[in-house]
Amino acid sequence: MAKKLGYKRISVLEFGVAKGDGLLNLEYHAQEISKMLDIEIEIYGFDTGEGLPEPQDYRDVPYHWKKGFYKMDVPALKAKLKKAKLVLGNIKETAVDFFEKYNPAPIAAIAYDFDFYSSTTIALKMLEAGEKYYLPRVFCYFDNVVGKEVELYNDYTGERLAINEFNYAHQNMKLGSPYHFLARKVVDPWCHRIWICHFFSHSRYNDFVSKEDQ
Ligand SMILES: C[S@@+](CC[C@H](N)C(=O)[O-])C[C@H]1O[C@@H](n2cnc3c(N)ncnc32)[C@H](O)[C@@H]1O
Repeated sequence: MAKKLGYKRISVLEFGVAKGDGLLNLEYHAQEISKMLDIEIEIYGFDTGEGLPEPQDYRDVPYHWKKGFYKMDVPALKAKLKKAKLVLGNIKETAVDFFEKYNPAPIAAIAYDFDFYSSTTIALKMLEAGEKYYLPRVFCYFDNVVGKEVELYNDYTGERLAINEFNYAHQNMKLGSPYHFLARKVVDPWCHRIWICHFFSHSRYNDFVSKEDQ
């Protein structure tokens, strides 16, 4: 989409970095995709650096998570990262001046892995920053929406509640399912973890990106 719309630079965000497995993976894939498409890719990883904060209430699923889980070894991760920038601190504070401080290239994809409803809600609010900072449709991965028989993720707690509330609160932005993934012959679990954020009033939303010879 970025290539078709003529973007020269894009950003990819990860909310929840922990030891950095996902961020290091993102760096690798970004490097390969960047070469293929000739598009510059900036990467930003958000984390307290201290592991999970205190769960606020039942919506943060405290029967499954505790404060301090997933603590980052900051110097060890910084030594491994080649280009991703770590935005350290509670998202409550880092969300406030992220756009002003980093002036990121338009965001094309976001991995949400904060685990908590409370943290994800703040991260989702950043989608309100304005079209300068986003592609018209943004690929969003939510890590904590399937789980197993202990987690029992549902529409009324955790990331699913944050997604539902976001959709309820916004007329011109909606997180929608990418049904083409769910129609694949083999539907891997990750297919159930992707949403697309549609910015209906983005000035590039209606730009034709499909095939001319239909
Ligand atoms: C499951 S871990 C992330 C795992 C990582 N994506 C990976 O690939 O290994 C969740 C992370 O979210 C972070 N987190 C949760 N709530 C946060 C908040 N309010 N502000 C900043 N970081 C937060 C925690 O510090 C924790 O490291």
